[in-house]
Amino acid sequence: MKFSTIILVTLVRLAVAIPTYDSLIGLSEREINEFVARNGVAPIPNPPGPLPAHQDGLKLVNDPAHPFRTQQPNELRGPCPALNTLANHGYLPRSGVARPDQIVTAVMEGLNLGNDFAKFLVYQAFLMNGNPLTNLMSIGMKTPLTGQDPPKPALVGGLSQHGTFEGDTSMSRVDAFFGDPAAFNQTRFNDLLAFATKYGANGSYDVNAASELRYERLQDSIATNPQLVFTSPRILSAYSEAVFPTVYFVDGRLNNGQLSKDAATSFFANQRMPQDFHRQPTPVSFDVIEPLTGRLFKDHPFVPGVNQGVNNYVEMPNTPAVSDFCGIYEDIALRVIPGQYPKPTGALKDAIKKNLGFLYGAVSFQHNCTQVFPYGK
Ligand code: HEM
Ligand SMILES: *[C@@H]1O[C@H](CO)[C@@H](O)[C@H](O)[C@H]1NC(C)=O
Ligand SMILES: *[C@@H]1O[C@H](CO)[C@@H](O)[C@H](O)[C@H]1NC(C)=O
Ligand SMILES: *[C@@H]1O[C@H](CO)[C@@H](O)[C@H](O)[C@H]1NC(C)=O
Repeated sequence: MKFSTIILVTLVRLAVAIPTYDSLIGLSEREINEFVARNGVAPIPNPPGPLPAHQDGLKLVNDPAHPFRTQQPNELRGPCPALNTLANHGYLPRSGVARPDQIVTAVMEGLNLGNDFAKFLVYQAFLMNGNPLTNLMSIGMKTPLTGQDPPKPALVGGLSQHGTFEGDTSMSRVDAFFGDPAAFNQTRFNDLLAFATKYGANGSYDVNAASELRYERLQDSIATNPQLVFTSPRILSAYSEAVFPTVYFVDGRLNNGQLSKDAATSFFANQRMPQDFHRQPTPVSFDVIEPLTGRLFKDHPFVPGVNQGVNNYVEMPNTPAVSDFCGIYEDIALRVIPGQYPKPTGALKDAIKKNLGFLYGAVSFQHNCTQVFPYGK
């Protein structure tokens, strides 16, 4: 399908979907169940598999089929520079509202994320921030474009929802205590550039710069944010996101772990791929990312915890550590998701269980975690 056709089909689907779900706003759980009984839930496609072997290599991705356009006023962008950029190039629907399988495909095609790694990120985010009934998620703030919400305490807040995937100590955003935690902040980003100058090889943002910046961001939040939360699952994304740019934002022809300031500015500040940008030469997954996050942790170990007032960091040693991958998976499945969906029934329960199965599929192979079932088998 041609690029323009994909966009058109997406728009038509949204146009059809919005009035239907919009008219549901304010309904009770019983009424939602009746609606679901009449109309069914959105179909939930299986996660896409890996890119075929002959299509998973080095490739120009800032190409004529994916032209950059800044977002329009009605289009949503959020806390993740990678997803914002992919939406600005049409790898994701430019509306900023997408199905999880679309996001998996977009990060594989646009940045060459490994399939299992892409699924791990996307399905945990979708379970925390998406709408299981309509199978849609906002990559930015909460929006009626994802349809009628399931009953509270479900949030369906989009990726910008603080305290879910989004959390404190970001590199280019402020903590939610200080302002919009999804909005790019130039002052914070200038720190990233300064750390590249000070610690990075050739003045680049590399693993050494990432290591020092990640440590500094935690120390800064401990000293200034009375409501700092730095526990599972946020700790894992915080450490992963610190090293992602040293891999996925570096041109695949160079692929030396050194992100130039120009390229960093292009992705973070302009949400745009550099001219002539080539993605990673092979799919990059846990086996590459985890040694890098492990290195950051080894440089500056920490215990998960929360601030009770500034400079009063209370450690929580009995919660999963950043190195305890399966513990974090279990924490998401057994605590975080049931926190939003304590007693789902019917089609809602089926949809959540299906997505939990997809999440487990992403952690079963390389990590050999044991599957957990918050809602029974
Ligand atoms: C594949 C699905 C992905 C999802 C669902 C996702 C989601 C998110 C979310 C919710 C945040 C906000 C965290 C916070 O700061 O509070 C974030 C931040 C970030 N994401 Fe993604 N992301 C994805 C993939 C990627 C990829 C492939 C990259 C590659 C570079 C990336 C790079 C980043 C970076 C660098 C940040 C940190 C921004 C900062 O701290 O200033 N993400 N992402
Ligand atoms: C950006 O971050 C700086 C430093 O944390 C802060 O002083 C400033 O108010 C922030 N800007 C906005 C628009 O939030
Ligand atoms: C700096 O960059 C140059 C050219 O890309 C490279 O040859 C050199 O090895 C780099 N220096 C370090 C310390 O990586
Ligand atoms: C995976 O876990 C199972 C059950 O804990 C164990 O029997 C098996 O040896 C493990 N496999 C690998 C490859 O670690």
